[in-house]
Amino acid sequence: MFINNWYVACIADELADTPKRVRILGADLVMFRDESGVAHCLSDLCVHRGASLAVGQCKGGKLECPQHGWVFNGAGRCTLIPAGTRTPTEPPKRARVPAYPVQEQYGLVFVFLGDQGTDERPALPDIMPEWDSDDWHKDVISRHKDINYLRMAENYNDPCHVHYIHEFAKWLPKGVTIVDHELTDRYVKAWHAAWDAEGNYGDSAGLMMEYNVISCVSRNTNYQPDYPPQIVTAYVTPIDERNTQIHMVILMPKHESEARDGSRVRGATAEEHRMLVAMTRDTVMDEDYVVLKTTRPRQAASPTEELLVDADRTLAQVRKMTVEYGEQAGRIDTAAWREVADTHIRVIPCPGHREDPKNWVHKTVSLLSGTGRGALKAAS
Ligand code: FES
Ligand SMILES: [Fe+2]
Repeated sequence: MFINNWYVACIADELADTPKRVRILGADLVMFRDESGVAHCLSDLCVHRGASLAVGQCKGGKLECPQHGWVFNGAGRCTLIPAGTRTPTEPPKRARVPAYPVQEQYGLVFVFLGDQGTDERPALPDIMPEWDSDDWHKDVISRHKDINYLRMAENYNDPCHVHYIHEFAKWLPKGVTIVDHELTDRYVKAWHAAWDAEGNYGDSAGLMMEYNVISCVSRNTNYQPDYPPQIVTAYVTPIDERNTQIHMVILMPKHESEARDGSRVRGATAEEHRMLVAMTRDTVMDEDYVVLKTTRPRQAASPTEELLVDADRTLAQVRKMTVEYGEQAGRIDTAAWREVADTHIRVIPCPGHREDPKNWVHKTVSLLSGTGRGALKAAS
């Protein structure tokens, strides 16, 4: 797991002026909206005596700790210590918790977990421009799976498993041929053309797979002849190394549109879109899970311990770019964190740590040596 990336924290509609606890990268965080509706994300653990702020209340656009009532604003600063000090409105400098940048897009709330400042932070990928148009059926779903996040991301970029695992595709010919379109150090987009019964392939049927390491997002567009395209965009959020929260945005066009091969294809009905959402949520994700929960090792394997073939190229690129970005951005030393978890609090660094490395109560997590800030300067 690595810091300095955007991760989906929750569905935007689920966040109101009641504190919501989420766990990302093994860290407990609290989300809430202030009186203007602006979303905030803080470390969940109060610097006074370690209570969970998520058990507290939102008051006047701030967060009140449940144990002794200390009040924290959206920037993580304590603004009031109601009891136990003679200067309640002048809390000490260290009375603050890490605050993480938040952004909303596609009906989702994203949190930037890391210490990069505004100028350095990568932008959220503009991977779903259809979201702003009324010409698309749209829905958002969320599921938790006890599978490593990178294993999940690889699965969304594995074209050949579709015809073996998923009932809806078992009748189709099994082969695909990958045609690479774009590849950078953070993004891959490849057309996986499906074979017909004779092994021929073209532009009429197949899967367009895209992955962006920023926000760990996969966008799969399924093209079939004479059927509206189906776009499934899946964000994987590492809860910890063994658990992942998946947020999916599922789109189908309402009106006639142009297919990849230039032919015209009709729009989808609301019922067809509803069925796709229900099938993805209730069947497809569980079909993947049956296999993924038994796949070893639990985290992505070394390429030297697997025998990859040509059609695995995209998922191998997903793995490679994720590992390389992690090296630059900072990989968390989870073994060291686990050792002290019962006796110490560790937090993910936030931009405030760069601005002022002192005056914090909780220490930041250790990064694996050779990863993180030093190497980041050389990152493209
Ligand atoms: S533990 Fe939060 S105010 Fe005391
Ligand atoms: Fe699948």
